[in-house]
Amino acid sequence: MDQIRIAGGRALKGEISIYGAKNAALPLMAASLLTSETLTLSNLPHLADISTLAHLLAGLGVEIGMNGDADNGGNAGRVLSLRAETISETTAPYDLVRRMRASMLVLGPLLARAGAATVSLPGGCAIGTRPIDIHLAGLERLGATIELRHGYVNAAAPRGLTGGEFRLPVPSVGATENLLMAASMAKGETVLSNAAREPEVADLANCLCAMGAEIEGIGSDELRVRGVAGLHGTDHEVLPDRIETGTYALAAAMTGGEIELVGARAELLSSPLEAFAETGMHIGETARGLVVRGDGRARSIDVQTQPYPGFPTDLQAQMMALMAVSDGASMITETIFENRFMHVPELVRMGADITVRGGTALVRGVAKLKGAPVMATDLRASVSLVLAGLVAEGETVVSRVYHLDRGYERLEQKLAACGAQIERVEP
Ligand code: EPZ
Repeated sequence: MDQIRIAGGRALKGEISIYGAKNAALPLMAASLLTSETLTLSNLPHLADISTLAHLLAGLGVEIGMNGDADNGGNAGRVLSLRAETISETTAPYDLVRRMRASMLVLGPLLARAGAATVSLPGGCAIGTRPIDIHLAGLERLGATIELRHGYVNAAAPRGLTGGEFRLPVPSVGATENLLMAASMAKGETVLSNAAREPEVADLANCLCAMGAEIEGIGSDELRVRGVAGLHGTDHEVLPDRIETGTYALAAAMTGGEIELVGARAELLSSPLEAFAETGMHIGETARGLVVRGDGRARSIDVQTQPYPGFPTDLQAQMMALMAVSDGASMITETIFENRFMHVPELVRMGADITVRGGTALVRGVAKLKGAPVMATDLRASVSLVLAGLVAEGETVVSRVYHLDRGYERLEQKLAACGAQIERVEP
């Protein structure tokens, strides 16, 4: 398994292109099941998760074509055309779903289009048990019958789905997306309250409307959907990845460098950018996106993760890396997932001073981290170790970087192009 080796101490300077968000692309790809026409998605990132979902969708009967002119810079292969002329299979198998829980997002569209879906229970993952009870309760509210058998969800709606009112107990991103896609072709009106407001949900809703769906309240926590008989194809550009944007902004700040994030949209991550500015990071908008500069040690601040528009849980581990070398003490509270501090013991091995009590980590900034061999455990924890390695004294080797490849495209190449001493090695 590949490793990433970093020699810390270089200030990063240059520019990094930000492409489409993984967490927008995945539900958008699942939406292709809702129509027999072609859905063309552009600005896609090159990520393992995208390939895994494409493989799963192909197994359900979706014809997939990857194109995108090879000559316009890094844009080769960023355009995906998906066409589910017919649904030939309604089962999403365990060996694919266990690898990527976002496979669960085929449940709603399969039910809406084919009236049946058998999807393996995703199982937990490193950051938590990740239940799907809200997905299932919402689909039952729309008239589906749900049975759990041999580790699979067997859902059926032979006479189609019927709109209804459903309040999500937790503003679940995935459940909101599954229910939105299911409701788009249910008979009558559906009202989803306490819905997730993440920009990726809005991006999906906007694409569904372009496909002929009738959705009101996009961006709010109450989505009103009037079901239509069928949806048609469309072309849709995937919105830029706000988590990748925040990650590279932190890399610039931590190393005392300056990076232009080309393609980034500040309005998608206003809450983290406000927090970053409080630490002393300089952030400016440019014609092409954002420019971020760090100078001197970051000021310590307290952070609490919240559903959008609060501070995103997907940037918590990366923020902790910055706070580990800040000028004071910072309380970081994780409220979304029950076990999202796996980066802590690895950062401590690099000399960080962090104490965890329940869902809160007390981070006392240290003058210097020391390079060390560390282990990636989940996608965002992995990248926080890379950030720490960029500023640590000496060499850091991050193992199990397949976690990184799920959510960050060519991370080491992008950082190396900005002056980092970083390379991928095969042990
Ligand atoms: C999405 O996961 C993202 N993944 C996650 O990003 C992100 O961390 C998360 O939203 C929160 O923003 C994708 O979009 C593919 P949730 P999702 O349902 O939809 C509980 C990354 O690093 N819950 O909003 O699975 C759940 O346990 C990944 O890119 C239920 O209790 O997250 C959690 O505590 C990690 N029952 C909370 O809700 C349910 O039926 C939020 O989960 C569903 C969720």
